[in-house]
Amino acid sequence: MSEAELYTLYKGVYLPSLLHPQESLKYYEDFTFRPDDILIVTYPKSGTTWMQEIVPLISSGGDPASVETLPNWDRVPWLEENRACILNLEQRPSPRMFSTHFQYNMMPRSFFEVKPKVVYVMRNPKDVFTSSFHYFGITSFLVKPGPQGEFLHKFLNGEVMFGSWFDHVKSWLNADDKEHIMYIAYEELIMDLKDSVTRIAQFLEKSLDAEAVEKIAEQCLFKNMKHNKMSNYSLVPSEIMDQTKSEFLRKGIAGDWKNQLTEAEAEHFDAVYKDRMKDVKYKFVWE
Ligand code: A3P
Repeated sequence: MSEAELYTLYKGVYLPSLLHPQESLKYYEDFTFRPDDILIVTYPKSGTTWMQEIVPLISSGGDPASVETLPNWDRVPWLEENRACILNLEQRPSPRMFSTHFQYNMMPRSFFEVKPKVVYVMRNPKDVFTSSFHYFGITSFLVKPGPQGEFLHKFLNGEVMFGSWFDHVKSWLNADDKEHIMYIAYEELIMDLKDSVTRIAQFLEKSLDAEAVEKIAEQCLFKNMKHNKMSNYSLVPSEIMDQTKSEFLRKGIAGDWKNQLTEAEAEHFDAVYKDRMKDVKYKFVWE
């Protein structure tokens, strides 16, 4: 099916219509944040699911109850998705935890007034492309990626769900009031998960002893999350996500783009990256 059949154009970006009916978008626009809410913000395929495991575990001091009993989409729900309206989020005790894939300029009014805590996770866009290429191929609500060269063109032009990676990252890096935003890269989690957990806990003002940090990092290892049915998307019917073709928790490494992109594609990617990121001062770990 085509973009026109599967996607809704919302504030200039494509959203999968199945997950984002008009009433969900309205719900988000009218959503009221609390100052102690925690929001995980990502461009898709940048480590959302990983952070949906890490943040609840930090919040509970390492108690695994929520990550073992609630699927990630109910544990840290996406505010722009259809389930948000039916989860009684207004009744949840603080600190509430949410996710969003929206760009900064798409955030609702209450976000700018209340300034909840944001953990913004970013990932080398060549790996985001690689992960997306596989993911778009297994999900029924996304336009099939087609040949790799075609998908690369769409990805670099932002003609994919949630728009352009460049626009997303730049919008959040240029946010006002950065004190309530923590920027962290997928690659930092890969390099040192315990240190990352410690730093995220500090940002969330949650004190954890060394034993709790150790336990959380262990629980969030790729090999362990792969077996958690509340986090590995095995609860999603195969007509919607066919994990026999490619698993949701696919490889979980940094640098897999080297196995995916041709030399010419990687060069083209670098040229576009250089141009689109020329005004960005932030030093990314993958550079
Ligand atoms: P790959 O497809 O490269 O393996 P998101 O949750 O934002 O959709 O991102 C999914 C990507 O994060 C997938 O990347 C997935 O394997 C990876 N991921 C999820 N949990 C992880 C973990 N514990 N360790 C490493 N990577 C993880």
